[in-house]
Amino acid sequence: MRRYLIAGNWKMNTDRSTGVALATAIAEQAADLKDVDLLVCPPSIYLAPVAQALAGKAVALGAQNMYFEDNGAFTGEVSSAMLTDVGAEYVILGHSERRHILGETDQDVNKKTLKALAAGIAPIVCVGEKLEEREAGETAAVNRRQFEAAFEGVTAEQATSVVIAYEPVWAIGTGKVATPEQAEEVHADLRQLLTDRYNAEIAGQVRILYGGSMKPGNAAELMAQPNVDGGLIGGAALKAEDFIGIAKAAG
Ligand code: G3H
Repeated sequence: MRRYLIAGNWKMNTDRSTGVALATAIAEQAADLKDVDLLVCPPSIYLAPVAQALAGKAVALGAQNMYFEDNGAFTGEVSSAMLTDVGAEYVILGHSERRHILGETDQDVNKKTLKALAAGIAPIVCVGEKLEEREAGETAAVNRRQFEAAFEGVTAEQATSVVIAYEPVWAIGTGKVATPEQAEEVHADLRQLLTDRYNAEIAGQVRILYGGSMKPGNAAELMAQPNVDGGLIGGAALKAEDFIGIAKAAG
């Protein structure tokens, strides 16, 4: 009942021409994929040209961040209305790089989640523990805290539009992928938190993606887990063949 979602987070990579070429190549190679949703999230400055390249194609567009205010004196920020204006349907929120490098708090992630939902943009809420937190046995508590904070005030009706991405920080860009068992354990916990907060029916509809060194070679076994509904891909999203290879592993 949940469709797989394969989301590419391009982070601060590509330029106008390589971004457009990448999106175009992904859209071409995606033509035969029927049972999986594809999404690319370029840097915000390239959303518009990538949107143009994807017009009429079966690949959705998302942003990597947004601010929670509507407009005003917030130098450098981008609003939800600006994202919808350029055709973004999703926005990644609370990525660990934003939390740990740029100082984003659980409360920021919550405000952004509520604003994105109000604007009709599907938030991809990222959660995940650092290596020291895992080693200290705090994995479940950290993911629970980030989950509960992000979902504060999200109604049952809105909850099914949210996508959760579990990204263990120690697996991001390191080549150290979580084992399918490690991923499934956290995904199942997150699904249970959704059930406790809403109900089993809603929990059953929310997609929970895994992110962290996902590649064509390890994607199938991760996505074979009952609660892994796709991937949030970094490095491997920058090559159309790899990204499509991961999407094929979902089918
Ligand atoms: O948002 C994507 C993740 O941070 C994963 O990045 O696939 O390069 O490990 P990665």
